[in-house]
Amino acid sequence: MAAYEYETHNYDAIVVGAGGAGLRATLGLAEQGLRTACISKVFPTRSHTVAAQGGIAASLGNMGPDSWQWHMYDTVKGSDWLGDTDAMEYLAREAPKAVYELEHYGVPFSRTEEGKIYQRPFGGHTTEFGEGPPVQRTCAAADRTGHAILHTLYGQSLKQQAEFYIEYFALDLIMSEDGVCQGVVCWKLDDGTMHVFNAKMVVLATGGYGRAYFSATSAHTCTGDGGGMVARQGLALQDMEFVQFHPTGIYGSGCLITEGARGEGGYLTNSEGERFMERYAPNYKDLAPRDYVSRCMTMEIREGRGVGPGGDHIHLNLNHLPAEALAERLPGISESAKIFAGVDVTKEPIPVLPTVHYNMGGIPTNYYGEVLNPTAKDPNAIVPGLMAVGEAGCASVHGANRLGSNSLIDLVVFGRAAAIRAGQVVDRAAANPTLNQPSVDACFDRFDGLRNANGNVATADLRLEMQKAMQADAAVFRTDKTLAEGVEKMTAIAGKLDDLKVTDRSLVWNSDLMETLELTNLMPNALATIVGAEARKESRGAHAHEDYATRDDENWRVHTISHVDGNKVTLSHRPVITAPLTTEAEGGISEAKIAPKERTF
Ligand code: FUM
Repeated sequence: MAAYEYETHNYDAIVVGAGGAGLRATLGLAEQGLRTACISKVFPTRSHTVAAQGGIAASLGNMGPDSWQWHMYDTVKGSDWLGDTDAMEYLAREAPKAVYELEHYGVPFSRTEEGKIYQRPFGGHTTEFGEGPPVQRTCAAADRTGHAILHTLYGQSLKQQAEFYIEYFALDLIMSEDGVCQGVVCWKLDDGTMHVFNAKMVVLATGGYGRAYFSATSAHTCTGDGGGMVARQGLALQDMEFVQFHPTGIYGSGCLITEGARGEGGYLTNSEGERFMERYAPNYKDLAPRDYVSRCMTMEIREGRGVGPGGDHIHLNLNHLPAEALAERLPGISESAKIFAGVDVTKEPIPVLPTVHYNMGGIPTNYYGEVLNPTAKDPNAIVPGLMAVGEAGCASVHGANRLGSNSLIDLVVFGRAAAIRAGQVVDRAAANPTLNQPSVDACFDRFDGLRNANGNVATADLRLEMQKAMQADAAVFRTDKTLAEGVEKMTAIAGKLDDLKVTDRSLVWNSDLMETLELTNLMPNALATIVGAEARKESRGAHAHEDYATRDDENWRVHTISHVDGNKVTLSHRPVITAPLTTEAEGGISEAKIAPKERTF
């Protein structure tokens, strides 16, 4: 057994991750007087939410008629009927309240002439249950909305006396013999000390795993740490095959150009200068949902109408927009285009390509954020003491495809929901649990094994192999052949985790070890993605399967549940929740209104 000294910290609740969801949960917990700690491997305001640009969806109706029922309908349709209806209703209903709370906390939203929160159009957001024109539903702080939210929530959390453990890397969950989560073990990166956090509730808000791919808009810190921790405890991951490609990553660097650029009037063209989205989506054109736009761009390139010397990308045109509008509404992407593509957006188009952006799948939860441990007897059974929110979780509000700007609202609605739920179930007066020592020891053993790993494969080489395999075989379009090859490659790649070589054995600022730990988190996420994709014999949302071109609701309107053990993945299914929270008589939407139908734009 590895012997590491450690310090023990006791809290009512701990939150792992300090992005939008983690900070909103932290703030909500601390506001209720729970002793709360937030643990983050990066400084909170450097979390990946800082990169969110275009905005946050809520039916405020500031720019024209809107309703939460229309927002819910769009979310159901956007999910390609794989989202859980109770969670989607909760999201759309609570969204305006959550945004007004942000406004009152101090988020500096852009304003209309009348001083209301400015809202812009985003893909897939419409009126009249998908029958009317696009709606301006996405509340924006220029094109730096995530940045504004993150800084505000961090300040508010400090004001509520939440305690922050910054640059602490969470290694593993501590679980009791009977499956209750009791805390986490952490490694403090700057001085090498070890820390055991004992808590009555652990909230995982660790973000997505975009870095399982070679080209992603995600920060290098998006390594699926929560999913890795959960998988190592034999718990489930859900719907991992659904990976979103954002239509407009800058060609070459992958850096995000917000969908808000098209919301403000930008449009895509091919090598013939054609606005091709008019052909594919006559009603919504460039503002069709992003899974659809990404596929159309890929088809244009495949059919020989891509731009550039290699004909391998597409142009995003903004140069017809007034320079003042670009400076006021899109200053951030104007700068990114200059730095990463050498383009002056007032004069030239930006070269763009669909780029991995978001993981719809993650740790399964109910709409309170409680982690599920689905069994055949009870598909909605929970794991006591454990919650997951934000991109790490899968509530599931995005189903097979997320609408743009539904991510930021997911972070704050479910961060808040988890805090409210924890406030109900955590007994403030009770003593902290007695920790299950074998679970703590197992964590140190794993850490020590990796720290002293002396095999033949360098972490960076194995990571690159994984990223290239995922990019090639779990792509925008998939076939039986590419997926079968991908499963074979990824099984072999994951098998090499046992043969890693770590060269730096120190405990202080050891980036070799940290990247190795991150790779052990990325790998189960990546493996579950490709195995889940290979098994799903239909096309739905972001899973575009060329051998099964249509959606198959009879056989496949089910969540994929994956259990990862080493390089083996066992799949099962969990039913989709189809019943809304409220009936039509109560002001909600009837089940008939949101029944599956063909998704056209
Ligand atoms: O395009 C964007 O601004 C991204 C938004 C989102 O992913 O929700």
